[in-house]
Amino acid sequence: MKKIFVLYSLIILTIFGFIYGCSEVKDDVVMAPSTSFHGDGWVNPSSANFHGKSIAADNWNLALCKSCHGADYSGGTAQVSCNTCHQSGPESCNTCHGNDDHIYPPKSLFGNTLNTQQGVGAHDKHMTTDTLNRISAVVECEECHVPVSSFSDPNHISKDGKTAAGVIFGTIAKTVTEGVTPDPVWDKNAQTCSGTYCHGNFKNGNQTTVANFLTPNSASCGTCHGNPTTGNPLPGGTHPQNWAINKCYLCHGAVMNSAGQIIDKSKHINGVVNFGLNN
Ligand code: HEC
Ligand code: HEC
Ligand code: HEC
Ligand code: HEC
Ligand code: HEC
Ligand code: HEC
Repeated sequence: MKKIFVLYSLIILTIFGFIYGCSEVKDDVVMAPSTSFHGDGWVNPSSANFHGKSIAADNWNLALCKSCHGADYSGGTAQVSCNTCHQSGPESCNTCHGNDDHIYPPKSLFGNTLNTQQGVGAHDKHMTTDTLNRISAVVECEECHVPVSSFSDPNHISKDGKTAAGVIFGTIAKTVTEGVTPDPVWDKNAQTCSGTYCHGNFKNGNQTTVANFLTPNSASCGTCHGNPTTGNPLPGGTHPQNWAINKCYLCHGAVMNSAGQIIDKSKHINGVVNFGLNN
């Protein structure tokens, strides 16, 4: 008898608890719908309904997501956190472009990964930390794009429907040398850079060089200064003549060694001619 009484009491308490619990819900909070809200494939990258594709189609607007998933994406009224999958949060710089190592493409905005593909191109060649694969000082984003300090920086994704990065040259491409004032131009259709200091628009440089962003090795030794056909980098004009590549070091010893190799890439294409042994 006593056991049955306890059992009934528990059932009654549970029912009361449930009703009481429901009445706790504040009616001034907007609740997100509770089941299968986004439809099939929302978390499957190969589905047409994948959330990444939906965000791209909405000009990369995350404000809508935040309205239900919380300002810090940790759940909100939807009670599903973005951060369980996006461990540094969806606004981290490599969510939409870049990878685990860097924030520049690859991958591009629409998933390209090859250096012959739009959006990827020669990013790596300009910026990789692998010095064997790089010919120059590291080129910062600001040398080719407007500076971006955060996801919501007004310079970042424009709100007028433009969804492709613009190329805006920084200071190095415009470096003035004796008698030469560069006028750098990015041609989006041809995917080429012309008139840049970096690729030859300087005193004794090959001033008409056009570099193609999607053509690997279009900037090999001799293309920016020297002879593009033979690959001999010795500049023409008023530069001292008749020096072989293994003798550059005699006058540019901080940059080159006696084997004709660039030993300090941070001093090559840095905007100044490094002359002498120590600078
Ligand atoms: C179940 C795991 C999961 C959850 C939860 C999740 N995502 Fe994603 N998200 C992914 C995957 C997987 C990708 C694709 C990654 C890739 O392609 O490298 C992705 C890609 C993205 C992208 C990049 C889109 C692109 O085309 O490059 C954005 C932006 C994004 N998610 C935002 C969000 C936001 C905002 C939330 C929360 C409201 C969220 N995600 C929740 C798994 C998730
Ligand atoms: C009106 C509210 C609302 C908005 C806006 C909203 N979500 Fe959700 N989301 C929900 C709810 C509710 C759930 C949980 C139910 C479900 O899984 O369908 C959910 C679940 C999810 C999940 C997990 C789905 C799964 O199957 O695991 C992801 C990922 C997600 N949302 C991403 C996003 C992204 C990205 C955006 C912005 C483009 C967004 N949501 C906008 C309400 C919303
Ligand atoms: C040497 C110049 C250069 C540098 C340095 C550079 N970019 Fe770019 N970037 C480009 C060019 C060129 C494009 C292609 C634009 C186009 O196709 O319209 C581009 C495109 C992009 C795109 C769009 C990709 C797409 O899918 O269309 C992103 C994102 C981007 N860059 C990010 C970065 C970031 C982040 C950095 C620094 C870590 C950086 N870039 C440094 C030249 C550069
Ligand atoms: C939700 C996706 C997304 C995230 C997260 C994101 N970006 Fe971008 N980023 C883009 C898109 C889209 C573009 C090209 C469109 C544009 O700039 O108008 C772009 C372009 C860029 C560019 C090229 C310059 C430009 O504005 O065109 C730089 C640099 C850049 N992003 C840096 C960053 C940095 C730094 C972060 C982290 C603080 C970041 N991005 C996070 C989507 C994203
Ligand atoms: C005998 C000395 C000497 C040798 C050897 C020498 N250079 Fe130079 N180089 C100079 C001087 C001097 C300048 C101009 C420095 C200045 O403007 O401050 C210069 C400038 C340059 C410039 C900038 C363009 C210009 O002409 O102002 C380049 C590029 C260059 N040298 C490449 C080379 C290469 C490559 C080699 C080897 C094949 C080489 N130099 C060998 C003396 C030399
Ligand atoms: C993408 C264009 C480009 C290519 C390719 C290039 N250079 Fe240069 N080089 C420059 C520019 C620009 C300068 C002018 C000085 C500066 O800004 O460093 C320069 C200067 C030099 C100098 C003078 C010292 C200095 O200040 O850096 C030497 C030596 C030199 N380059 C050697 C080479 C060698 C060797 C190769 C081939 C392995 C080569 N360069 C390929 C653009 C290039």
